[in-house]
Amino acid sequence: MCGIIGYLGPQDAVGVIMDGLARLEYRGYDSAGLVVVDPQGEFAVRRAQGKLANLAAKLVERPVSGTLGMGHTRWATHGRPSETNAHPHLAGEVAVVHNGIIENYLELKNELAQAGHEFSSETDTEIAAHLVSQQFKEGATDLEDAVRRALGRIRGSYALVILDRRFPDQIIGARKDSPLVLGLGQEGEYFLASDVPAFLAHTNRVVFLNDGDLVVIKGGSYQISDLAGNPQQRQETTISWSPAMAEKAGYKHFMQKEIFEQPRALVDTLAGRVKAGEAEVFLPDLGLDAEALKKVRRLVLLACGTSWHAALVGKFWLEGLAKVPTEVDLGSEFRYRDPLVGPGDLVVAISQSGETADTLAAVREATAKGAQAVAVCNVVGSTLTREAAGVIYTHAGPEIGVASTKAFTTQLVVLFLLALHLGRVRGTLGDERARALVEDLVQLPGLLGQALEREAEVVAVAERFAQAQDFLFLGRGLCYPIALEGALKLKEISYIHAEGYPAGEMKHGPIALIDQEMPVVVLANHNEVLEKVLSNMEEVKARQGILIAVTESDNTAACSQAEMVIGVPPCPSLLAPIMLTVPLQLLAYHVAVLRGTDVDQPRNLAKSVTVE
Ligand code: F6R
Repeated sequence: MCGIIGYLGPQDAVGVIMDGLARLEYRGYDSAGLVVVDPQGEFAVRRAQGKLANLAAKLVERPVSGTLGMGHTRWATHGRPSETNAHPHLAGEVAVVHNGIIENYLELKNELAQAGHEFSSETDTEIAAHLVSQQFKEGATDLEDAVRRALGRIRGSYALVILDRRFPDQIIGARKDSPLVLGLGQEGEYFLASDVPAFLAHTNRVVFLNDGDLVVIKGGSYQISDLAGNPQQRQETTISWSPAMAEKAGYKHFMQKEIFEQPRALVDTLAGRVKAGEAEVFLPDLGLDAEALKKVRRLVLLACGTSWHAALVGKFWLEGLAKVPTEVDLGSEFRYRDPLVGPGDLVVAISQSGETADTLAAVREATAKGAQAVAVCNVVGSTLTREAAGVIYTHAGPEIGVASTKAFTTQLVVLFLLALHLGRVRGTLGDERARALVEDLVQLPGLLGQALEREAEVVAVAERFAQAQDFLFLGRGLCYPIALEGALKLKEISYIHAEGYPAGEMKHGPIALIDQEMPVVVLANHNEVLEKVLSNMEEVKARQGILIAVTESDNTAACSQAEMVIGVPPCPSLLAPIMLTVPLQLLAYHVAVLRGTDVDQPRNLAKSVTVE
């Protein structure tokens, strides 16, 4: 949830760290801090509550420099957001930054207090610094030994970067259930960070660490071992994302850029997997051949948040096209309900980041019971992709805006591809139908581009309702999850209360909310339930609710009923969820901009939820 970066090399560490933190800020932004070992061999620490800009201002007031250091951007778990709770945390000569939760910190804190340690923050992380420092008093021979001993005492999750000012040629990283990546720069230059964009401007050569890995960078080289000290071999990977892909490129916000990138993201996600005129789908990294896919008894889709909405849509396609019984569950629910899952089940775990703690735990629960798992993921080398037997990447490129947009629509595309592939392999989809569906998919990026051109219609709705107290989003069938997604986007970035609801369920409760103040966004595209949706619109109208239809411009029935219309180009009804998402993203974006909220870093949220 927090972002960490460590640096050892020839450059000034402060610039590298601040640049890295700016790219990690999406992971947490309630406070930030850094430490460097200065030319006199002393720790120079700066911390600030609030956004990174506050830390930058402190560095202007009181500059520091050094070639070894580390920084942190925080999303509070233990201890409120404040300057004292901001990382790094120090104990004597040792400094630590941490992402995760130390579950036994109270027990350790009491023990350390008895040994004479005094604490200056309310965090669990400070305990880790003291614990490492204490190991020197108990006979640790060097920093590596001290860290190893300390980690042996810690329960919980961590990505930790640790340094000791007495050893200015060393920096140590360790991970368990929280991400940490090693970046290899020029000779003698190393980066340790929560994710790759933090150091992508300096190098694209990375080593993804596994859970339980300890990396010791010392004297110009690095070694990876497990906690017991057994050497571990990890492959070096070259990342294809360019630094420019993680920039705003002239847009006001990352979210806006990412919404407009969707046609390109869809093209990239389809590339090499389908071809116009052909019926087959190629998913070479799926990790399961045709025979294995034929044996799948049931699919279990696991995800959180927006990715869970993608799963809800995926169920329609997987059951409709491939005829495989499909269940959808939230990672946070599945992991604690002793689920009935096992051999014959194929888990499809959907996650933009591949680091969401609840999704990872749910997948581990299912695989421990004998299910197989494949990942639908956007981040190459993330924990989920390394733990699953196979992976289908969403080639959306880096998603920096905290509210997910292009990751969602590319997840939908991947789930559609999976449904087609399973349908072909299992014989439920004939040549002609499959070819037609592939053709529809290939046309989709162009249609999404046309939907984006109709932004002015969305702006008109946003201007009228920017100060509304509540919103209702209604959809049926395939579009019900999109109603959920539209409501979630609006809540997240504009802080307006919004509910997504299956339109047919409205009469069972939410209809009581409707009055002349309530904007009701209805997804009313041409499909087999359009008539039902039109009846639901009548119900809203009869209670003086304000109807906003999101529909094809030629859908006269829906357009004539609504007070305002956001048009999209006509699109095959099976793919409408992808198309109809775009105006809802734009609506949330423009309402948020008009309300002056922090679009890319909305309050209380963080992009990767790597804690429970
Ligand atoms: C909403 C959003 C979150 C994520 C959720 C899962 O805009 O971004 O709801 O979808 O935290 O994250 P991933 O997909 O990284 O597992």
